Amino acid sequence: MDNAKLILNGQEYEFPTFAGSEGEVGIDFAALRSQTKAISYDPGYGNTGSCSSAITFINGEKGILRYRGYPIEQVAENASFVEVCYLLIYGDLPNREQLESFQHDLTYHTMIHEDMKKFFEGFPPSAHPMAILASMVISLSAYYPGANDPENIDLNIVRLLAKIKTLAAFAYKKSIGQPYVYPRNDLSYTADFMHMMFAVPAEPYQVPDVLERALNLLLILHADHEQNCSTSTVRMVGSSQADLFASIGAGICALWGPLHGGANQQVIQMLEMIQADGGDYQKYINMAKDKDSGFRLFGFGHRVYKNFDPRARILKQSADEVLGALGVKDPLLAIAKNLEEITLKDEYFVERKLYPNVDFYSGIIYRAMGIPTDMFTVLFALGRLPGWIAQWKEMRDDPKTRINRPRQIYTGATERSFVPLNKR
Ligand code: ACO
Repeated sequence: MDNAKLILNGQEYEFPTFAGSEGEVGIDFAALRSQTKAISYDPGYGNTGSCSSAITFINGEKGILRYRGYPIEQVAENASFVEVCYLLIYGDLPNREQLESFQHDLTYHTMIHEDMKKFFEGFPPSAHPMAILASMVISLSAYYPGANDPENIDLNIVRLLAKIKTLAAFAYKKSIGQPYVYPRNDLSYTADFMHMMFAVPAEPYQVPDVLERALNLLLILHADHEQNCSTSTVRMVGSSQADLFASIGAGICALWGPLHGGANQQVIQMLEMIQADGGDYQKYINMAKDKDSGFRLFGFGHRVYKNFDPRARILKQSADEVLGALGVKDPLLAIAKNLEEITLKDEYFVERKLYPNVDFYSGIIYRAMGIPTDMFTVLFALGRLPGWIAQWKEMRDDPKTRINRPRQIYTGATERSFVPLNKR
């Protein structure tokens, strides 16, 4: 491939180009500043490749998402979440023996240090479970020092994957004032989480198959999404050689925002608002189109997908199945479908290529499963964890990794003399 040429102030510079395995072209600007004294300016990093990666491929125009080469539709149809964790982190599908061993490890590292229960007790009942989850994940560093030592990495990956569901379920139990339910070794990864969420000491609890299957699907669909905001945060924090727990804790915080993983909670609140307002979709569509309103249709639009989000397509179908199997009739599902139908024909949304994203239907399924709204983003974090880990590990193992340190174009005051307080 030819070098890229840049003409700046009449002088021509050349930069090497390279292509990824799917033909995506990159211009290597590593020497841009040293050669030209200029920097690239790309707020929001929409055109900036921060790394090369062999984990997830997305083609936003065609609505393609693949984990390690496997189409998301096939993975969603056939895999267990634990298999997907292995695939993302270690690069290939596990054979039976590898899967059993990995599953065994994930089962036998689920307990957290009893002292950590005191941390839960310190939070006010109103604490958002994402605040608790992020704090708890970072706290794991205190219990497993030396987390960055190469010989500890695989064990810490297992610990984190195994313990996060205990931490998430305890955060929920704390928020509703119920006693914590301890993990069980005879249950699958997803059934164990549901059990810790919904069992109470007073009576036996059997996780319904439909819930286990739905959770498996939801976690798989969220498992990785290349260099999104939270994953880039994990890589950025990790680039300073912060340990696994600290890097993932930072990713959880980034995910929390309403423009990212927090959108699933916002979608339900928006649908409830439309319902309470008599179901007047057009009013909210008009508000979303009016820039002065400050209102956006949550669950619509995506930085990368400009045709459709394949995850949303799978979830739309699954929403019908899960609600049907559970016998739940949720008027919000009808509102969501109507909203989608109207926006798909509306010029504003068509022009800007705004389609429902993964968060649009996931909230409705979580609701039907009995998951409270402020736990939605926690479930997103559980799903995204293997992706964050895989990306963190890849970043660590990549000899090209340098501490992430973007530049800026300074637009503030030029030099001026300091004025002492008594002269101001
Ligand atoms: N409702 C109304 N208008 C929208 C929406 C929306 N949901 N999303 C984008 N637009 C409009 C913008 O106002 C802008 O219009 P303009 O060109 O006239 O100024 C245009 O579409 C492009 O939008 P940007 O904000 O520039 O797109 P960007 O790629 O920066 O943002 C994002 C993507 C954050 C997902 C955005 O679409 C959004 O805010 N959506 C709602 C929140 C949401 O659902 N987030 C979840 C994302 S998926 C995930 O994290 C799992």
